[in-house]
Parts: sequence; structure tokens; C-alpha cells
Amino acid sequence: MRNPHIMKSALLLSSLFTPFARAQTGDLYTDSKTNITFWRETIDSAQTKGGMQWGYALPGTASGTNDEYIGLIVGSLQSGHKGWSGISHGGGMPNSLLLMAWVDGENIKTEFRYASGYVAPDIYTGNATLTQISHSINDTHFSLVYRCRWCWAWNQNGATSQQLPTGDSQVIGWAQNLDVPSNPIREHNNGQAQFGAPVASARNAAYTEWVSKYGGGVTTPTSTPTSTPTSTPTSTPAGPTTCVGTPAPTQTFDYIVVGAGAGGIPVADKLSESGKSVLLIEKGPPSLGRWNGTMKPKWLEGTNLTRFDVPGLCNQIWVDSAGVACTDIDQMAGCVLGGGTAVNAALWWKPVPLDWDYNFPAGWKSADMAAAESRVFSRIPWTDHPSMDGKLYKQEGFDVIASALAADGWKSVTANDVPEQKNRVYSHTPFMYSHGQRGGPLATYLVSAYGRKNFQLWMNTAVRRVIRTKGHITGVELDGGNGGYCGVVNVTANTGRVILSAGTFGSTKLLYRSGIGPKEELQVVSNSVQDGLSMINSSDWIDLPVGRNLNDHVNTDLVIRHPNVSFYDFYGAWSDPIKSDEDTYLSNRTGILAQSAPNIGPMFWEIINGTDGIARSLQWQARVEPSPPATDNTSMTMSQYLGRGSTSRGTLSINGALSMYVSKVPYLHTQEDIDAVVKGIENLQKAIAKVPGIIWEVPAPNVTARDFVNGVPVTAAKRRSNHWIGTAKIGTDSALTGGTSVVDTNTKVYGTDNLFVVDASIFPGHIVTNPSAYIVTIGEQAASKILALGTTGNGQTGGTTMAGAYKQCSGRGYKGPTTCIDGYTCKVWNSHYSLCLPN
Ligand SMILES: *[C@@H]1O[C@H](CO)[C@@H](O)[C@H](O)[C@H]1NC(C)=O
Ligand SMILES: *[C@@H]1O[C@H](CO)[C@@H](O)[C@H](O)[C@H]1NC(C)=O
Ligand SMILES: *[C@@H]1O[C@H](CO)[C@@H](O)[C@H](O)[C@H]1NC(C)=O
Ligand SMILES: *[C@@H]1O[C@H](CO)[C@@H](O)[C@H](O)[C@H]1NC(C)=O
Ligand SMILES: *[C@@H]1O[C@H](CO)[C@@H](O)[C@H](O)[C@H]1NC(C)=O
Ligand SMILES: *[C@@H]1O[C@H](CO)[C@@H](O)[C@H](O)[C@H]1NC(C)=O
Ligand SMILES: *[C@@H]1O[C@H](CO)[C@@H](O)[C@H](O)[C@H]1NC(C)=O
Ligand SMILES: *[C@@H]1O[C@H](CO)[C@@H](O)[C@H](O)[C@H]1NC(C)=O
Ligand SMILES: *[C@@H]1O[C@H](CO)[C@@H](O)[C@H](O)[C@H]1NC(C)=O
Ligand SMILES: *[C@@H]1O[C@H](CO)[C@@H](O)[C@H](O)[C@H]1NC(C)=O
Ligand SMILES: *[C@@H]1O[C@H](CO)[C@@H](O)[C@H](O)[C@H]1NC(C)=O
Ligand SMILES: *[C@@H]1O[C@H](CO)[C@@H](O)[C@H](O)[C@H]1NC(C)=O
Repeated sequence: MRNPHIMKSALLLSSLFTPFARAQTGDLYTDSKTNITFWRETIDSAQTKGGMQWGYALPGTASGTNDEYIGLIVGSLQSGHKGWSGISHGGGMPNSLLLMAWVDGENIKTEFRYASGYVAPDIYTGNATLTQISHSINDTHFSLVYRCRWCWAWNQNGATSQQLPTGDSQVIGWAQNLDVPSNPIREHNNGQAQFGAPVASARNAAYTEWVSKYGGGVTTPTSTPTSTPTSTPTSTPAGPTTCVGTPAPTQTFDYIVVGAGAGGIPVADKLSESGKSVLLIEKGPPSLGRWNGTMKPKWLEGTNLTRFDVPGLCNQIWVDSAGVACTDIDQMAGCVLGGGTAVNAALWWKPVPLDWDYNFPAGWKSADMAAAESRVFSRIPWTDHPSMDGKLYKQEGFDVIASALAADGWKSVTANDVPEQKNRVYSHTPFMYSHGQRGGPLATYLVSAYGRKNFQLWMNTAVRRVIRTKGHITGVELDGGNGGYCGVVNVTANTGRVILSAGTFGSTKLLYRSGIGPKEELQVVSNSVQDGLSMINSSDWIDLPVGRNLNDHVNTDLVIRHPNVSFYDFYGAWSDPIKSDEDTYLSNRTGILAQSAPNIGPMFWEIINGTDGIARSLQWQARVEPSPPATDNTSMTMSQYLGRGSTSRGTLSINGALSMYVSKVPYLHTQEDIDAVVKGIENLQKAIAKVPGIIWEVPAPNVTARDFVNGVPVTAAKRRSNHWIGTAKIGTDSALTGGTSVVDTNTKVYGTDNLFVVDASIFPGHIVTNPSAYIVTIGEQAASKILALGTTGNGQTGGTTMAGAYKQCSGRGYKGPTTCIDGYTCKVWNSHYSLCLPN
């Protein structure tokens, strides 16, 4: 039996579910009522209760706008004709035209929808038009034949994308729900996945004949209603929407830090410790109970705990992310106080020294980071026994895998005692939990900052952009929110600074909206309804490779099972925890709910030498939970993360509705990256073979590691770990003078006097482990570097904030102003000297 909670979780965390490139199962099918021939995909009832079918027919040849098809949906119905079935015209849920269909009396209702992120989709406002051709309904299924026009290219208020049938195949996503749609749409609970639909097989010369016969919505022999365009196309909004919120207090700050996550909280605390006035702005609502968070299940009512405090509820983010996940990103990101550190599984790793030495520039090598690191771990200690009685609960899964690794000669270590040992070793999992609850920056750095008079925290307030004159930032423009502020808040004249810590997606977006980034991205902002009229003049754009160098751990999920292992229903603990587990947790912070869901461990590591001379790190993270197609409750998923040494990179872009999207995935572009993933699986297969009772589910025993890896699509939905980094790379080689870096070794954005980025976006390359502790350490280190600049780093030497005509503005060892006076632009003279020349 399939566990319904597992299916629910699969919706959001695609990395928690195995992405199986299903072999082509399609066939050609001719509908008897209309004689229309479809290429048809059949999804079997093991994947979705009652099964589902989707088919399509295309015009005989690709021509014109290529923007229509005739479709077939056969959806399953529960008793009382309940249920909806839907497809995505782009494959994934976000940034794609979605179509939902369900039964309403004698009729079929359809609706086009669109979601900018992993949130309940809105009604689609573009011009897609559906005409019903025929339908039938019986007790178990409905069937709908329809014509879909303007369906392969979409535009939601400026967010445009398309999947025209001009290639070999269309990637289509499907989902079903056991009930009819609610408002807002609730997550689908009857399966979802994607499949490839070959284009050539769907093409048919009779298409024009079918269209002339049925395309106008002619009634068919059954009592099909006439043409029902499902959504009335509306025009794009006439102008930008205005900020909703109350006017911000008119106060200036020495430092404004944007984003209260793993980077922003420590940097804000350390800066405020120096006595400077600091404003920390968070877009999202409070999370932990101690910050007046309110989101919680019934059994936590009457306590000062929220869903974020309780380790065993951390997976709720994959079930219900409303009001927690960012809505302007096609990936999962926390838009809540604490950012990722409020919603993740709280893994807390002592950084691997080589991660700094290999990736980071001078001043950020392991020896340079040691002091910051020790400050971080003295404030946020780790524990691998989070239950307050010092016991570990339900460790059978750990024992099974550990026994195989040990038999194959892997060494058991306590990972945080020997952070440098990351080759053929395994360990229990260290967490930042403290007193049986989520701790981390929210329970330490933010607490000390909050106690200072010179510190302020504004929540529920988004930031639109930084305000700047050339390279000098004078403040930030706010974008309101639920109870938040609007208006401009300034930094102290001349000496004030702004620090972006909004995460890889958030900081990149702020830089783009502030006119800092590649021209093609800034052009999108400048053409947008929302920002077009008010964006900084293109003559002042700063051309830096923001959004490039995107990376994430490449995730590959394997599944085994063993009779010793049993699934603990952490998902069920949301609404209906096992009474004794609830009691011991609430009274003593003991028991399994003091451990992260879904029972994580062992963690294990290996280094794979590449033929390109690069040693690549693999981290394996095991957990007690099946991943499709495995369903057995004695299953364990082992996620492999390819980290340090990976040579593939992607791109993060912005669309016309100002939503962020991954325009190029950072996964497996190089053969050596692929080889490392394959070799790691082969090595693990060797180890697992030492314990005969362990059965492979994914990959199946008769599938080679290489065939398996080649069969998993290289898409974000299938490969992400949500450890996104790298879009504002730190380095000594300014991209303004021919290099590759966006921020200097003080984390200051090149070409600006006083704008800094302190979060995961500055990582030049990936690391071995989950990144939270590294990001907090970067916050500590960056704060020291920024404070050490005094006020000279803002380029105020000589009483001016800008370099004069023909004066130096950049170069090796240069510390003065980097922005030129009006009419002049900083131009490279040679590799170590730039000067202000007339525009
Ligand atoms: C479908 O095609 C068959 C055989 O060509 C023909 O007998 C039948 O009348 C057609 N039905 C419709 C609805 O066009
Ligand atoms: C109900 O409709 C579906 C889809 O059209 C069809 O496959 C199925 O055979 C029908 N069931 C019955 C009992 O007629
Ligand atoms: C429908 O919208 C698309 C863009 O999404 C556009 O290319 C097309 O011209 C529009 N068609 C009509 C008929 O308005
Ligand atoms: C911010 O500074 C600008 C000048 O740079 C000034 O015009 C504006 O009034 C200031 N706003 C606030 C809220 O202090
Ligand atoms: C939460 O409540 C408990 C007991 O009711 C109390 O001991 C604890 O200090 C409170 N914690 C916070 C952060 O308010
Ligand atoms: C939480 O609520 C208390 C009581 O209303 C208030 O004093 C405190 O300032 C609030 N804390 C935050 C972070 O808003
Ligand atoms: C399974 O459990 C039994 C009984 O506790 C134990 O003896 C055996 O070693 C376990 N097997 C593995 C592979 O952990
Ligand atoms: C932008 O700057 C250019 C060059 O300085 C100037 O010619 C143009 O008028 C400015 N545009 C606006 C809208 O201010
Ligand atoms: C909590 O701990 C106390 C002291 O060890 C013990 O007496 C009590 O039974 C525990 N409560 C629960 C619900 O386990
Ligand atoms: C990988 O390379 C390192 C350094 O050259 C070497 O010490 C190690 O033995 C190699 N590992 C394997 C498995 O070949
Ligand atoms: C595991 O699945 C079996 C068979 O479906 C079921 O009988 C058993 O109760 C399940 N065990 C757990 C721990 O959920
Ligand atoms: C592997 O075995 C399964 C049945 O056990 C079979 O369905 C499948 O086709 C086989 N795959 C390959 C690649 O041989």
C-alpha cells in the first residue's frame, strides 16, 4: 500500500522522490466518437488511484505559431464523481500553463491556472482558449476531448515561457486529486509526475479536417455543451501595482541588512554589537514561537511552540508551504524569519577545511575562517543526540546501512570531531537543535541582536531595490507586505551601508531590480510593467555576471529495503501524533519527535577522482522513507549529493512578472560530473552487497548504475537538493575588469561603494555538506571584514564619494572610490589600473 502522506510530500519535494524516467509507454489511440487519433500516455493505477490518460494530436506539420493541439484527458473519479485531473503544458508546476478538469453534474469544467512558485496556482490571465469537443462520464472516470489554442506559449502578467512542439517531444506533467477543486487550490493528493510525449507520433494530416469539423465546439452525439472557453483573456495590467503597507518610520541606519536568514542574522548581530545602528528587514512572517510565530498543529496549541520549533515536524514544509515558501521563485525557498534555518532539517556541519581552500579566495581560506568558525560553534553547538534523554530513537535503518559500509571497510566517525575526514567514512547526523527544539541563529544571534537598542527587526516587509546614485547606495525602497512598511529607508549619509542577505534567489533578484547584473536580465526588468518606469537609467547599469555560476548539490536518490527497517509516520504526527510520543516530547523534549523527520542517517562520504584531475566529493544522506516507485514501508532512500569539485554551472534568471527561475540547471553538464555520480553508486552497490538481506529497489538489481543515472532527467524537479549557491561569486578578479567575480573579498559588490552581499550566493563552488553552518560562518567573517573597513571602504577618502575625471577608480590594491563623477565611466586601462573616462 502506498502511504498517502508520502504521496502528498512528493508534490513539493521533488528531490525526495525518485524521478523515474519512465520508459515510453504511449500508444496511438483513436477515439470512437470523433475518429481523432491521439498519441496517448497511460498512467497506471499504481501511480495514481484509478489511473489517468492524456493524449494529444498536432497539425500535420509544424507551421504558423505552433500554438495549439487537440487533447484527451481521461481522469479518475472517486465516489460521488469527486476528483480533478490536471496537466502542465511545460512539465513542472511553476511558470507553466496548467489545465485542470473535473466533473460538474453532467458537464466537465475546465480551468487554466498558473503558479509562479510552489504555491496554490492562480487563475491564468493569458489568452489560452479551450473548446470542448466531446465528453463522457461514468462512475469511475470522465473523458474529455478538447481543442486547446494558445496553449504552448503563455504569459501571466509578463511572465512568459513556452514549450512549442518543434522538437522531438513535449514534456508534460500530470497530477490528480481525490476531491474537486477548492479555493484556493489544495495540493494534489493522488500522484503527480512527468512524461515525454513524442511530437512526430502526435502529428496528423487530418488535423485540419478535425478542426473544421469539431474545432468550433460543435455538439457531438452526446449532450456535450457548446464551446466553453474556460478563461476570459484579460489584458495585462495597465501599470505597476503600488506598495501595500504603512509608511516606514523616517529613521536612518548605519547598516540595513535585507533578509533574516543564515547570512543576514549573524551579520546583523555582529554589526550591531559594534554599536552601529542596524535595521534587519525580513520579507516573511515570524517562525519560532519565541518570535511570536503562530503556525502550528492543534496539539501544539497552548504551548509557545510552532511547527518550526519541533524537529519531528520539519517535513511539513513539503506538505503545506503556504505562507512560508517564497512565491516568486520556481524552486523551494523559505520566506520566513530564519529563512532556510527555520524550515530545514537542521543539519549542522563543521566546515570541511578543503571546502574553503579549494573554492574561496585569499582571506577566506580555512586558516582565515578558523576564528569565525569557532565563534559560530561556540554560539551554536551541535548534537547528534537531540532527544533530551540522550537516546537515539528508531535506529534500525542506521544500523542496516552502517553494517554494510563497515563490512566494506568504511570507517565510523563522529563527523564534527573530524570534519576533514570525508572519504569512505560514515557518521550519525549532527543537528543545531538545542533543548529538544530548533535552535540555530534564530535562538542565538537574533536574540542578542534583538536585545540591543541600536537594532531593529522589521518583519513582513519586502524590499524592492536599493536606491543608488551611480555606485553609491543611499537606502532601500520597501515593498510592504502583510502589516509591513512602504517607502524609502535611508542609510546614514556617506558612511551607511546596505547588505543583501536575501539568499541566492532573493539577493539576485534585488541586484537585478537595482540595475546590477547582465544586460539581458536587466532588460527584462526594464521592460516589466512593475519596474519599467521607475528602474535606474540604463546608463547607470552595472554589468556584472550576477545569476551566473549557479550551483546546487546534484541529487540522485537510491532506494533499498530491509525487514529490520520500519517507517515512522512523521507526516501523520502533524494531525495525529502517537500519544506517548506527543507526551514525552511536550513534557520532557524526549522521544522520536525530538529528531528530524524522516529519521535521517547514516550520513556517509566518498571522494571520487576524476579523469580531469579533480577530486569530487559525494555526501550520502540516508533516511527512512521510500521514494517512488518504491512504496514499501521498510524502505530507505539514500540521496547522493555531488558537491565540491563539480564543474557544471547553471543560470538564474528573472521573468517579466519579476519572478525568478532557473533558466539553465546546474547539473551534470560535464562527463566527469556524471562519471563521479555513477562511480559513487557503483561503490555503494559493492558495499550494500556485503549484507545479503538488503534488497535494491532503485536502481533495480538488473539496471546498471550508468543506465540508471542516464535515465534520470537532468531537470531541477528531478535533481535539486535546494542548496542553491554561487550567483554573486566572491573573488579578487572583478568582472568589471575582465574577471569573473561579483563581490570583492570584503563581500562588497564591484562597482559600488557600499553595497555588500552576505549569503550563499557568494560561494564560488559547492561544498561537501549541507550549507547552513558555512553560511553562518560567512556571516561572521563578512561582519569582521566590513567592520574592519572603517569608513574608508565606502570610498569617502578625500571627502568625496566619487572618483573625479581621469582619476583612478579600480585596480590592484586600490581602496578609493570606485564610482566616477557624472559624465564619466570607470574603464579598464590595464589589468591593474582603471580610470574615469568621459562617457
Ligand atoms: C470513423 O471512421 C469510420 C471508418 O472510417 C467510419 O465508419 C465512421 O463513420 C467514422 N465516424 C465518425 C464519427 O466520423
Ligand atoms: C468509464 O469510462 C472510462 C473512460 O472513458 C472507460 O475507460 C471505462 O471503461 C468506463 N467504465 C465503464 C464501466 O464503462
Ligand atoms: C496569445 O498570447 C501569445 C503570448 O502568450 C501571443 O503570442 C499570441 O499572439 C496571442 N494570441 C492572440 C490571438 O491574442
Ligand atoms: C532619504 O534621502 C533622500 C536624499 O538622499 C531624501 O530626499 C529623503 O527625504 C530621505 N528619506 C527619508 C525617509 O529619510
Ligand atoms: C516557552 O514556554 C516554556 C514553558 O511554558 C518556558 O519555560 C520557556 O521559557 C518559553 N520559551 C520561550 C522562548 O518563550
Ligand atoms: C512578541 O509579542 C510580545 C507581546 O505582545 C511583544 O512584546 C514582543 O515585542 C513581540 N516580539 C516580536 C519579535 O515582535
Ligand atoms: C536486524 O535485526 C536483528 C535483530 O535485532 C539483528 O540481529 C541484525 O543484525 C539486524 N540486521 C541488520 C542488517 O542490521
Ligand atoms: C539616461 O541617461 C542618458 C545618458 O546619461 C540620458 O541621455 C537619458 O536622458 C537618461 N534617461 C532618462 C530616462 O533619464
Ligand atoms: C518526564 O520526565 C520525568 C522525569 O524523568 C518523568 O517522571 C516523566 O514520566 C516524564 N514524562 C513523560 C510523559 O514521559
Ligand atoms: C585519488 O587521488 C588521491 C590524490 O592523488 C589519491 O591519494 C587517492 O588514492 C586516489 N583515490 C583513488 C580511489 O584512486
Ligand atoms: C507496513 O505495511 C504493512 C503492509 O502494508 C502494514 O501491515 C504495516 O502496518 C505497515 N507498517 C508500518 C510501520 O507502517
Ligand atoms: C528488470 O527486471 C524487471 C522485472 O523484474 C523487468 O520488468 C525489466 O524490464 C528489467 N529491466 C531491464 C533493463 O532488464
